[in-house]
Amino acid sequence: MAPTRKNPEDAARLLPGSGWEKVASGESDTDVYRRDAVYAKVCAADGTVGLAEERDRVRWLAETDFPGARVLDWIDSQHGAVLVTSAVSGVPGWQLPCSPTLMGNLAAALRSFHELPVEGCPFERRLEDVLGQVEDVVRRGAVNPDFLSLEWQQVPPAELLSRLQTSVPAVQDLVVCHGDATLANFLFDPQTLAFTGAVDVGHLGVADRYSDLALTAAQVVNHGWSPSSVSFLTMYGLDDADDERLVFYLLLDAMSWG
Ligand SMILES: Nc1ncnc2c1ncn2[C@@H]1O[C@H](COP(=O)(O)OP(=O)(O)O)[C@@H](O)[C@H]1O
Ligand SMILES: [Mg+2]
Repeated sequence: MAPTRKNPEDAARLLPGSGWEKVASGESDTDVYRRDAVYAKVCAADGTVGLAEERDRVRWLAETDFPGARVLDWIDSQHGAVLVTSAVSGVPGWQLPCSPTLMGNLAAALRSFHELPVEGCPFERRLEDVLGQVEDVVRRGAVNPDFLSLEWQQVPPAELLSRLQTSVPAVQDLVVCHGDATLANFLFDPQTLAFTGAVDVGHLGVADRYSDLALTAAQVVNHGWSPSSVSFLTMYGLDDADDERLVFYLLLDAMSWG
């Protein structure tokens, strides 16, 4: 058997035809290319299973009323895989200056994502599985400090893991979660600020709504949209958010990439 390749750059040879422009190098060992109104996410052979999971979730979301991309093609070989999707119009939230309208539209979009019927969603993102991923990342010494706050960067990863293990929330409010609800993955019309769709749904699954909210609320603050996350959470419909649960899910997410 030919050796498998671990660099998505090598897998770019799988892109059909020419004229592809690289737009992003992903955190998840994928590269993203664009040609006209089409996007292609490319992974090396060791990422094929994960990209196939994303493909299945894009397909599932496209069958709901929630705006997002459609799967146009799937190419799979020993060198890796390519997921070709239709372009969602608009620009990612981080490219826009904040306004109450934009923040309200983001909050409403996340809320309506969470209103997708749980019983119709075949994907789960179980807390114990994510915690297991974090344990594995810590065991391999692969925690990425770039995802940690300055305060968390001062703490040994094993200690952060033990904080997570001893503060697992007693309750979970299970909804269909996006799984990577960042401003990069929610797109808006730059003129009207209307929400146009969500991308990057590889981690979509039934989980505690706080797992999405923790990320989005932190991003709203980090991107200077708001001095605190309270106004965003109120717009979402949560007047009295559980801060400890937000911190738990933010740390859980930060430590699960590696
Ligand atoms: N189908 C799509 N429609 C519109 N924009 C897209 C699409 N796919 C990717 N993008 C753009 O490319 C960026 C990176 O793609 P994404 O799937 O989020 O990769 P990553 O896993 O690296 O975050 C997104 O933030 C978005 O701006
Ligand atoms: Mg993304």
